[in-house]
Amino acid sequence: MSEPFIRLVGVQKVYRVRGAEFPAVSEATFDIEQGELVSLVGPSGCGKTTLLKIIAGLHSYDAGELRIGTQTQPFDPSRDIGMVFQQPLLLKWRRIVDNVLLPAEILGLPLAESRERARDLLRLVGLSGSEEKYPYELSGGMQQRAAIARALVHDPKLILMDEPFGALDALTREKMNLELLRIWQESGKTILFITHGITEAVFLGTRVIVLTAGPARMADNFRVNLPHPRTLDMKTHEAFGEYTRRIYNLLGMN
Ligand SMILES: Nc1ncnc2c1ncn2[C@@H]1O[C@H](COP(=O)(O)OP(=O)(O)O)[C@@H](O)[C@H]1O
Ligand SMILES: [Mg+2]
Repeated sequence: MSEPFIRLVGVQKVYRVRGAEFPAVSEATFDIEQGELVSLVGPSGCGKTTLLKIIAGLHSYDAGELRIGTQTQPFDPSRDIGMVFQQPLLLKWRRIVDNVLLPAEILGLPLAESRERARDLLRLVGLSGSEEKYPYELSGGMQQRAAIARALVHDPKLILMDEPFGALDALTREKMNLELLRIWQESGKTILFITHGITEAVFLGTRVIVLTAGPARMADNFRVNLPHPRTLDMKTHEAFGEYTRRIYNLLGMN
């Protein structure tokens, strides 16, 4: 067996606020293999963002072990992570292509090359023709596509997505789910996708990790054996229903 790309063993996090302790994550233990698209699903406030920030190296943790990268694939968090948040967080005074370019600028990568790559990525996310526009000229879904292109521009090894489609209307969200799967297949990136949407978690994931309410505790971790490319009609398949039912049961919603 080769080493996993990401390994968490018993990771715990307690927030300390004015002398009081708030446990946010208890005993997170899971592996992610290179090239997987893993969905992390759980109710609001259960500790998903906290866990993502720990993996991103933005938060410390109190116990356990976290390792990212392998001997053949060493990992540098500042270069090797791309992040997408619930809001696109585009700079409104920069054109779309210059927004996408930002991480490359910050990392001091060669700009001409990166600009070329930014344009290719805008094509990949379906935004050809919007390169020179400003964020206000784009719809919410288009802005989120730009944010995905920005997360890819420095060619990171890992993409962390924190409820990226949570602010979109239902139809745009379904469309973005299909787009994300296409981008994932074309880019070959490892993606950790956080959501509180149970259907979304199953539809996107090669695997689903279920967290129960605070502090985040792992309730399940299973492979989704639905073929790729995924299509929306799979949501009506019996196997799909079994996966979603399994999660609803774990979250005490049945
Ligand atoms: N910086 C912080 N300081 C103290 N408590 C926090 C902080 N960030 C989050 N929390 C608390 O930790 C818990 C988990 O939060 P979070 O990870 O944001 O959950 P989720 O992303 O699943 O909604 C919540 O109860 C939240 O109020
Ligand atoms: Mg969150």
